[in-house]
Amino acid sequence: MSGAVTPGASGRPLRVALLGSGGSIGRQAVDVISRHPEAFRVVALATGSQAQLLEEQARQLRPAVVSLADEHAAKRLDLPAGTRLAAGANVLESLVTRPDVDLVLVATGGLVALRSVLAALDAGKIVATANKETLVAGGHLVMPLARRLAAGAAGATRDPGHPLATPLGWLRPIDSEHSAIWQCLVGERPGSVARLLLTASGGPFLHAAVADLATVTPERALRHPTWRMGAKITIDSATMANKGLEIIEARWLYDVPLSAISVVIHPQSVVHSAVQFVDGSVKAQLGTPDMRIPIQYALTYPERRPSPAATVDLVASERLEFFAPDEERFPALRIAREAGLAGPRASAALISADEVAVGRFLNGSLDFPGIPRLLAAAVERFGSGAPREPSLDEIVVLDAEVRAFAEVFR
Ligand SMILES: NC(=O)c1ccc[n+]([C@@H]2O[C@H](COP(=O)([O-])OP(=O)(O)OC[C@H]3O[C@@H](n4cnc5c(N)ncnc54)[C@H](OP(=O)(O)O)[C@@H]3O)[C@@H](O)[C@H]2O)c1
Repeated sequence: MSGAVTPGASGRPLRVALLGSGGSIGRQAVDVISRHPEAFRVVALATGSQAQLLEEQARQLRPAVVSLADEHAAKRLDLPAGTRLAAGANVLESLVTRPDVDLVLVATGGLVALRSVLAALDAGKIVATANKETLVAGGHLVMPLARRLAAGAAGATRDPGHPLATPLGWLRPIDSEHSAIWQCLVGERPGSVARLLLTASGGPFLHAAVADLATVTPERALRHPTWRMGAKITIDSATMANKGLEIIEARWLYDVPLSAISVVIHPQSVVHSAVQFVDGSVKAQLGTPDMRIPIQYALTYPERRPSPAATVDLVASERLEFFAPDEERFPALRIAREAGLAGPRASAALISADEVAVGRFLNGSLDFPGIPRLLAAAVERFGSGAPREPSLDEIVVLDAEVRAFAEVFR
C-alpha cells in the first residue's frame, strides 16, 4: 500500500509523477504543486512536444526524471543537474511505477496514458486523473484494480472509513463535475445515492438554432463561455460530446447505472454537479470555474488546503439557472449514452472516433454537425462487435481501426 495517503501524513511530501505537464491541466497542476512545497514533491514529469516548457518546469520543480514524447526535441533538452531524461517505448509506465512515486497525476489527452494508469494501479500507486478517455474506454479494466487496492487498504488498516479504503481514494477524479460528485459522496453510503446530477454549461451554442450549427467555425466553437481549457475538450463541450463522455466516466467511478445519471444544463458553471439521495436531499459542490480546486482536492484528499482560486460569491451571482438539455441540438449526448449502454467496446470506439472528428473539424475537413454524424457511424460500425469488454491490447487494435475509418468518413 502507498506509504503516503495525504500530504505530510507520513512526515514527508507526497511524491508525484505528472503526465502531460505542458497542457492546460498539467500547467495548472504545476501551479498547485509549487504553492505547497512542504506537501508535494514532483519526482517525474512527462509532456509531449514542449521542450522549452519542460526545461522550465524541470528547473522549477527539480524532478528526478523527465520525458518528452518528441524524441527529436528530447535530444536537445537542457536539464538541470539531478534531472535525467527517460526515453523508450514504455517510458510513461517506467515513470509511474518508480518506487519513489506515491501518486500519478494524469493530464494527458486521449488514450496516451491508459497503459500507464493500469501499470500504476497495479504497482499500488494512487492515480488522480483529469483524463476521462482512460475511464470511458478502459473503465472495465481500471476500476477492478482500484477496488482491489481499496479492499487491501481496508484489510491492512482494519478501518473501513480509511481514506484509501474506497476505490475513489485510489482513482481520484479531477474533472470538475466528477470531483464535485466525489466531494458530495464523502461520508455517504453507496446505497443512499438515488441519482447523480451532472451539470453542463451548454457551451457556446446553447441557444443557437440547429440550422445554424452547419456554419459554425473552429474559432467560434473554441470560444467557451465559462472555462479556459485545451482545444479538444473545448470542442467536445461545444458538441456536448464531453458531457456524454462524462456520463460514462461517472458510471465507472461511482458504480451507478447510466439510467441514474442525469445531465442538467447550468450556464453559469457555479454548481459543478450534485448528488440526489434516497431521502430526497440533494448535495451540490459549488465553486468558481478554476480547475486548480479539483486538482488540489485530488492531491490533498481527504484534507483541504488554502487555494488561490477565487471563492463563489453567492450574493453577487445574480441567478443560477438549470434546465434540461436539448438532444436535437446536441445529438452527441444521446450517442454517447447509447455507446455507454452498449458497453466498453462501443465507448472505446466513441473515444477514438471523437478524437479524429475533433481534429478534422479543427483542420476544416469536417463540419460541426459532421462530428456527431461520425460518432454515430463509428459506434454503429464498431460498437456491437466482439469482445464487448476489450482487453488493453484489443482497445489499441480497435483504436487504429476506428481512426482509419474516421479519417476518411464523409
Ligand atoms: N483543460 C481542462 O480544463 C480540463 C477539464 C477537465 C478535464 N480535462 C481532461 O484532461 C485531459 C487533458 O486536457 P487538457 O485540456 O489539459 O489537454 P491539453 O492542453 O491538450 O494537454 C495535453 C497534454 O498532454 C501532453 N502529451 C501528449 N502526448 C504525450 C505523451 N506521449 N507523453 C506525455 N505527455 C503527452 C501534451 O504535451 P505537449 O503540449 O508538450 O505536446 C499536452 O501538454 C483531457 O482528457 C481532458 O478531457 C481537461
